Amino acid sequence: MIGYGRLARALVPAFRAAGEEVVVGRRSPGEGEFAMADAAQAADWVWLTVPDDQIATTAAALPWRAGQLGLHCSGATPLAALGPAPAAAGFHPLKLLAGDVGLAGVHVGIEADAAHRPALEALAHALGLVPLALPSPMTAQARAAYHAAANLAASGVLAVLAEAQTLWATAGLAQAEALPALAPLTRGALDTALDRGLAGAVSGPVARGDAGVLSRHLQALASAGLDTDLLLALGRRQLLLAEEAGRLDVMQAAALRALLAAP
Ligand SMILES: NC(=O)c1ccc[n+]([C@@H]2O[C@H](COP(=O)([O-])OP(=O)(O)OC[C@H]3O[C@@H](n4cnc5c(N)ncnc54)[C@H](OP(=O)(O)O)[C@@H]3O)[C@@H](O)[C@H]2O)c1
Repeated sequence: MIGYGRLARALVPAFRAAGEEVVVGRRSPGEGEFAMADAAQAADWVWLTVPDDQIATTAAALPWRAGQLGLHCSGATPLAALGPAPAAAGFHPLKLLAGDVGLAGVHVGIEADAAHRPALEALAHALGLVPLALPSPMTAQARAAYHAAANLAASGVLAVLAEAQTLWATAGLAQAEALPALAPLTRGALDTALDRGLAGAVSGPVARGDAGVLSRHLQALASAGLDTDLLLALGRRQLLLAEEAGRLDVMQAAALRALLAAP
């Protein structure tokens, strides 16, 4: 394992608990620790758990030998970054790993050739992860789209909650209460979506065809001097979900579409 950051600190104990032998290589090894090149030489599978932008330069500096597999755990980086490795694979856990976070039930995107895929899938199962087959090879554009989807599903939701928090404060409500009060709504919507699908779970004025309430929402933002871009863009996406669910008649959809048109 080359680089002992947040991801490695989650993977290494899990690998060891699954019976794998792991050597950690670090840039500035302390007492009893290994340098990156020494750790790489000791291993059959060399995991580059360094920042995405450092994968290519780190891979280029390692002393590869025939038969080794180079791996990275980046969602956004094509395998070409592992350049001189004799063989390359990707193993991307779809989870934000910081602190003492478990891996059980987390999907892991695996990009690998036919020779390495079965062993990587077996490792994923041994760690309690759910293997997700990525195309092999996966183009840079496909990687970017896949990673953007993952980012939208995690930090994108946080950005929506940040906007909700701002609106909450403009209503004169205590900022400290915003997240505890709003987050259960997010959880509830997510639980319903996992049960009934996104279209089946969408609720609120757009889903109900209530143009009057939507109009008041937009006015509230404008009065508070806030940008309406995000609300409009999310409203247009909710409109598509509501139409998919058959919730709106033609007149309701047209009225909402007019209100939600980009300024
Ligand atoms: N954290 C997550 O939630 C998560 C989830 C999925 C995938 N990933 C992927 O996992 C990989 C590592 O992410 P991370 O979150 O663990 O990063 P991180 O916490 O920043 O740790 C990266 C480690 O790489 C080493 N490093 C730092 N700068 C370096 C440099 N300039 N050159 C060489 N090595 C350097 C350091 O280890 P030493 O001090 O030991 O040298 C550092 O602790 C990335 O590809 C990331 O996309 C992360």
